Order: sequence, then C-alpha cells, then structure tokens
Amino acid sequence: MIVVRTVTDLRAALRGRRDGAVGMVPTMGALHEGHASLFRAARAADATVVASVFVNPTQFDEQADLAAYPRTEDADLALAEAEGVDVVFAPDAAEMYPSGFSTTVSVTGPVAETLEGAQRGRGHFDGVATVVTKLLLAALPDRAYFGAKDAQQVAVIRRLVADLGIPVDVVVCPTSRDEDGLARSSRNTRLSPEERRRALAIPRALEAVADAALAGLRDIETLRARAVATLEASGIHPEYVALVDPASFAPVTRLDRPVLVAIAARVGATRLIDNTVVVAGDTGTGDA
Ligand code: PAF
Repeated sequence: MIVVRTVTDLRAALRGRRDGAVGMVPTMGALHEGHASLFRAARAADATVVASVFVNPTQFDEQADLAAYPRTEDADLALAEAEGVDVVFAPDAAEMYPSGFSTTVSVTGPVAETLEGAQRGRGHFDGVATVVTKLLLAALPDRAYFGAKDAQQVAVIRRLVADLGIPVDVVVCPTSRDEDGLARSSRNTRLSPEERRRALAIPRALEAVADAALAGLRDIETLRARAVATLEASGIHPEYVALVDPASFAPVTRLDRPVLVAIAARVGATRLIDNTVVVAGDTGTGDA
C-alpha cells in the first residue's frame, strides 16, 4: 500500500493503474468496520482501490466538533492495508485548500438545504460538495463508494456528479450496523454505556415505521408519530424525524412510493443520524 500526501503524487501513483477500474472511498479517517465494508465493496469490483483520509474543516459547522473529531492515522493506515487498499491519499489542509482558494461547489434546493443542511447550516453541504468534487477530480475514479447512513450526503453527491458531469459511478453501500442495530459511526465512541443503550431507540424507531408501513399504514404524519413516540419513550427528543423523497429530499404526503425516513438526535452530547427507506405493504386499509 502506498501513502501519498499530494494530488501530484496521487496522480502519479494512479498513472500506471488505469488499465483496470479505479474505486475510491473518500473518508475522514477514524476508520471502523463501516469503512471496511466500503473498502471490501471496492476491492470486489475494482482493480485499484484508493482511500482518502482527510478531516475536511470546511464541512464542520462547530469548531468544537472539528477539534474533537478523532484523528487516528496509524490505525487508519493499518485497517486500510488489512482490507487491501492500494493507495491512501492523506493530504493536509494546505494541500486541499491552498492560499487563495476561493471556489465553493454549492448544491441548492431541498436536497442540500433541508434537514442536515438546515440543522448544520449552509456551509456543511457546501463543504462536503467542494471537497468531494476536489477528491474526485484528483483521483478520477471509475467508481466512488459512500455509506447509506449519510443518505442526504449521498443525494447531494449524486446531484453534483450529475450536474457537473463528473464521469464516476456513485456506489451506495448499505449502512453498517453493530450487533445491537446501532449504525456504525466514528461518533459512537463518544457515547457512555447508558447513552449507547438509549441510542438504540433510533434504529428501533426506524423499524417501527418500516413495520407500520409494511402493515399498510400510509399516512405520513401517523408514521412519523410512531418514530417520535419510540424515541421519546427512551428520553430522546429528536432534532428531526422526516419522511422525504430519497433523491430530492422534498417532503412527501403519502406513502405511495419508497420514502426515506431520516432521524437526527442528540444522545447526551453526541449527535447521531440514521435512516431507512420504507415501502407500503399491500395489506391494511391505508387510511390511518
Ligand atoms: O462521509 C464522510 O466521511 C465525509 O463527509 C466525506 C464524504 C469524506 C467528505 O469529507
């Protein structure tokens, strides 16, 4: 495995490897099993696997969150190597944002401006869109892999890739979960044992909506209320529980097509997000 720190060295490392497909897994480090599942998906499909490890300062809305973000490069490199990654691109901030940098890639509309975009501020998805565009242009991969846990990030990236005509297939891998159902996240290490137990209400709330939908419930407000009740029973007051179109993030009024259920909540000081896509079952009256 090669570790490179500059775009020039990344391009040089990939130059001789263009005869087969190149797969890229962009990350902010603090790698865990969720990232490993993305590396494995890339390893299975692509001749060369590139991972980027860069804690992108422009996508953090809170300086404290940026400062607290775990930086574990030695462990990250060991995990990447064990999963068969060929090239790790680990630039510093000056490489990604050199002096004079003044361009922002900004996706507009509900896909970037609602939910995470509203809670975390306009700058969050601008930061994600700008850094992902730069990473894709630096490596020019055939495929780029992202986790479904960050559903809105995926929708923003799909939008920018389509709008800017970046020649890459965006591959979305299923959310990786611990045995108890909690979605894997670098932030989970900040949960106390008691908070972690309470956090399990988040996947339970998603399951409650999926079950109700399968049982034939189609009214969006009633489905939403099921999730909120499940969370509040564990003392979790969500920032949002939203049922939206999975691509545009526009709100939906009825479950007459696949709908994304997205939750964000703080458990103690830790902000967690999770989601699932639900479909209506064909049983039940459909009017509750
Ligand atoms: O999901 C992440 O880890 C980051 O948002 C990404 C896509 C690597 C951009 O910094």
